[in-house]
Amino acid sequence: MCGIIGYVGTRDVVPVLIGGLKKLEYRGYDSAGIAVVNGNGVEVVRAEGKLSNLEAKLDDRKLHGSFGMGHTRWATHGKPNENNAHPHRDCTGQVVVIHNGIIENFLPLKQRLQKAGHEFKTETDTEVVAHLIEERIKGGTKFVDAVRQTLKELEGHFALVMIDGSEPGTIVAAKQGPPLVVGLGENENIIASDVAPLLAYTRNIIYLEDGEYAIADQQNVRVFDKNDNDVTRPPKKILWDAVMAEKEGYRHYMLKEIHEQPRAVRDTFNGRMFEESAQIYFNDLQLTADDWAKIKKVQVIACGTSWHAGLVGKFLLEDAARIPIEVDYGSEYRYRNPIIDGSTLVIGVTQSGETADTIAGMQEAKRQGAKLITICNVIGAAATRMSDGVIYTNAGPEIGVASTKAFTTQLTAFYLLSLYIRELRGEDVSVRKQGMHEMRMIPHRIEHILKHQEQHIERLAHKYANSTDFLFLGRGVHYPIALEGALKLKEISYIHAEGYPAGEMKHGPIALIDENLPVVAIATKTPVYDKVVSNLQEVKARDGKLIVICDEGDEEIAKLADDVIEIPHTIEPLQPILSVVPTQLLAYYIALRLGKDVDQPRNLAKSVTVE
Ligand code: F6R
Repeated sequence: MCGIIGYVGTRDVVPVLIGGLKKLEYRGYDSAGIAVVNGNGVEVVRAEGKLSNLEAKLDDRKLHGSFGMGHTRWATHGKPNENNAHPHRDCTGQVVVIHNGIIENFLPLKQRLQKAGHEFKTETDTEVVAHLIEERIKGGTKFVDAVRQTLKELEGHFALVMIDGSEPGTIVAAKQGPPLVVGLGENENIIASDVAPLLAYTRNIIYLEDGEYAIADQQNVRVFDKNDNDVTRPPKKILWDAVMAEKEGYRHYMLKEIHEQPRAVRDTFNGRMFEESAQIYFNDLQLTADDWAKIKKVQVIACGTSWHAGLVGKFLLEDAARIPIEVDYGSEYRYRNPIIDGSTLVIGVTQSGETADTIAGMQEAKRQGAKLITICNVIGAAATRMSDGVIYTNAGPEIGVASTKAFTTQLTAFYLLSLYIRELRGEDVSVRKQGMHEMRMIPHRIEHILKHQEQHIERLAHKYANSTDFLFLGRGVHYPIALEGALKLKEISYIHAEGYPAGEMKHGPIALIDENLPVVAIATKTPVYDKVVSNLQEVKARDGKLIVICDEGDEEIAKLADDVIEIPHTIEPLQPILSVVPTQLLAYYIALRLGKDVDQPRNLAKSVTVE
């Protein structure tokens, strides 16, 4: 996700900004830029691609100053090119803005500003902020007050840093969602997306909370809440080293990424779901009602965790589309002589967009005339370049080898696609509105699980860590989660685990059950709940150890299970996004207990680019 840095002080600002952006590189980006304020006013330099491209441009420009901002962009609105790279300016070029996140109401704001004569130069949502501030300054308002008023107009999740070249020396930074931290130095203050770039200058850090904004100059930082009241919060002393800082204090990237899921899921639906009109908007997917009417079947191609997302996708899309949906492993698809023609829609699901098996399958489908779309987490990756349309999952870079937030955002993308298909088919608006409402609640519900169940799951991990085998059971939408839970455990703890549809257990795996076998089952309230409970009784009758992921307050399960993990209720198609979270935590804490290398498990690579 985008990286942000702002500096005001006495040092030469360009090396501070570039050094800071280098520390933020791990977040992933496709372009970068800086703005420096000096005797020449505001000077902006931007470049597509890696920071080295920006550095090469800066070598030619010889910029100096002691006040400015820098940004690495992970594209959401508009292509990843130099023109869309941050910082963005107003019409005068004096108000400069960098931004992480999504401004959901940018479209009506942009239309209003265009009518008032503002000229927009980029495709981004960010640019509206610069023009909104400009509009107020034109009316006689001072920069800081213009920012205050502008913030009240913005909807969505964003971290913003704003400066005005005609009032040099003051930076305003606002947080509504994505992280933003302020480092308090001696005669200098520095603002960034996380603490990694600050550690070279200070260890005194203020974490901004949602709705807050900070006004910083060389000597002071003042923090305000959303009602413009002063906030007094003593800075925290950060003792992390640089590696810990990149993990934001988490012990492993995997744990950090599990905790990022509320944000990642939110960033995947934000700006795409419009409840009032019950419409879904995908800016990189041109699939009209006419296109859809020609589609007679859908084939999903993926590998590993992404394949599990595809299996959930099958449930969601089949229900929405009422046409056959097949889900294939990339490595199987092209060797089984699949039936493909112009009425086939192929969906490649790949977080990296570079998995050789998935891409080979997609190539074969394309060769035979299928329409191709990709659900992908990396802008411009190979799979996206060959596709007719893309749904990006805005998870941000995933560094832990075992996929977590990439998976839950793939499930989010499938759910949005199912709503979109319902829209194309002219289905009832009220069902779509209800679905959108439930989707919006999912980040809060994931937070609830993390807050109330993590310690309990850690204790369960200690209790069961010495088991040699695990069985994971689920039915319907939770069957793929049983597979995913088993895969996560295998990958990082090296314990043998199998995922099975609960109803199939009696056809074989039931022979494995004895008092030494932990069985992790998902039994939330779905239409097959009673059937799952019967399956669990079969486990209990054979002395299996039952760990059940169930709805909060389910007394029937509490009586039956050895251990329960409670999750909040939601509608059935969204339940997998919640039920997978305890399985991720269980795998993580078991692997940790066993002393395994959680982020770099043996024999595994993050992106498998060979067949
Ligand atoms: C498991 C995992 C892998 C990937 C698989 C496909 O935690 O991450 O199973 O899901 O290698 O990768 P992508 O999604 O990049 O195509």
